[in-house]
Amino acid sequence: MTDSLTVRDNRTGQEYDVPIADGTIKAADLGKIKAGEDQPGLAVYDPGFVNTASCRSSVTFIDGDKGILEYRGYPIEQLAEGSNFLEVAYLLNHGALPTKAEFDAWEHEITYHTFVHENIKTFMEGFRYDAHPMGMLMASVGALSTFYPDARDIHDAENRHMQIVRMIAKMPTLGAWSFRHAQGKPFVYPDNELSYTANFLSMLFKMSEKTFEPDPRLVRALDVLFILHADHEQNASTNAVRSVGSTQVDPYSAVASGVGALYGPLHGGANEAVLRMLRRIGSKENIPSFIEGVKNGNEKLMGFGHRVYKNYDPRARIIKKAADDVFEVTGVNPLLEIALELEKIALEDEYFVKRKLYPNVDFYSGLIYEAFQFPPEMFTVLFAIGRTPGWLAQWLELVQDKEQKIARPKQIYTGARTLDFVPASERWA
Ligand SMILES: CC(C)(COP(=O)(O)OP(=O)(O)OC[C@H]1O[C@@H](n2cnc3c(N)ncnc32)[C@H](O)[C@@H]1OP(=O)(O)O)[C@@H](O)C(=O)NCCC(=O)NCCS
Repeated sequence: MTDSLTVRDNRTGQEYDVPIADGTIKAADLGKIKAGEDQPGLAVYDPGFVNTASCRSSVTFIDGDKGILEYRGYPIEQLAEGSNFLEVAYLLNHGALPTKAEFDAWEHEITYHTFVHENIKTFMEGFRYDAHPMGMLMASVGALSTFYPDARDIHDAENRHMQIVRMIAKMPTLGAWSFRHAQGKPFVYPDNELSYTANFLSMLFKMSEKTFEPDPRLVRALDVLFILHADHEQNASTNAVRSVGSTQVDPYSAVASGVGALYGPLHGGANEAVLRMLRRIGSKENIPSFIEGVKNGNEKLMGFGHRVYKNYDPRARIIKKAADDVFEVTGVNPLLEIALELEKIALEDEYFVKRKLYPNVDFYSGLIYEAFQFPPEMFTVLFAIGRTPGWLAQWLELVQDKEQKIARPKQIYTGARTLDFVPASERWA
């Protein structure tokens, strides 16, 4: 067996041998295939990059057909069961689990960088009262680049580490303050006595009490949700981070672009759409007619389907369990009944079975967030906080990868050519 592809160009009759490595061919090799010396090389047309590998990565492994997700080789189920978010963040960014001393140092560093410059506070206070928290988060993460101009030195390992620590540490502060702003409540400063996730809850919900003491079951459930969102290989927002990062801009600007990508309803906004859908369905009796509408192409079953998973999303299973833990504290969300029934009917329906549409991570996460009393606009902010270590691990990999280049896809031009411009004064005469 030879690891190559023989291509015959029927335009010229010429044959080419294209090497295959790691199950891929190099697009540049196809570029050598030309209809004539002065003709452009053959390119690949792939909107949405559905079959294009943009990098080599050792961060996250996904087998979408089997429903497997691993961070640095560790199955998501085991990490969700026995690890915590900060340890997972360490794992993603360092490539291996920490020793006790390494973890303690990491936790200490992250904890002591949770504060932001007071000017960031003034900056955030400047937003309109009804500003979407995700827009505020995107802007404030971008603004951090102006507070840390040293972050531009992306070739220095120590410097990169500093920015990674700062960003993981400050995301909950920015996220919580975006939430408080919309509520007209004063911003709560970080409490360094609390764990990463407990401190986040404190900055969100603390009022006049001296110390905020969240229910440990809620802290654990939110920590697990963060773990589940920590990375997902080359998804749309990570691709945005890598694409912007490929210009060698500072990591705050690159991550701000990831937050922007996550803002979209087809990515991080899906759980908000799931809740709206469940509310619209209203009761179990209305599910069959809703499903009919989906099958007729009138609407989508939000929280179902995934570009990569053609099986049950492993995160959806873990989330279902976390939902039970949260509802034990908060009481059951009445929409859960509709969601469970909807899932049952869809999983038995030929339309969904044939297309391999299963619940994804967003199908149940919105129900949990609502139980926490987060308004829907906050759901994506929570996703962004969880995803930050993954974005940074991917960025770190990118900036050290000698094969990477500035991201600059090709196009198939379909517009007009060589028109003669007539000045407005003549055209409008
Ligand atoms: C996630 C998503 C964007 C993936 O899209 P994709 O990989 O481009 O898949 P496609 O849009 O090509 O879908 C393939 C088929 O399944 C159908 N389909 C996909 N998701 C569907 C859904 N949620 N409800 C109903 N039909 C769906 C498509 O209409 C298409 O059917 P067709 O072959 O008859 O045309 C898509 O499944 C979706 O929009 N899901 C709902 C939003 C969501 O939950 N997003 C969160 C992702 S974590």
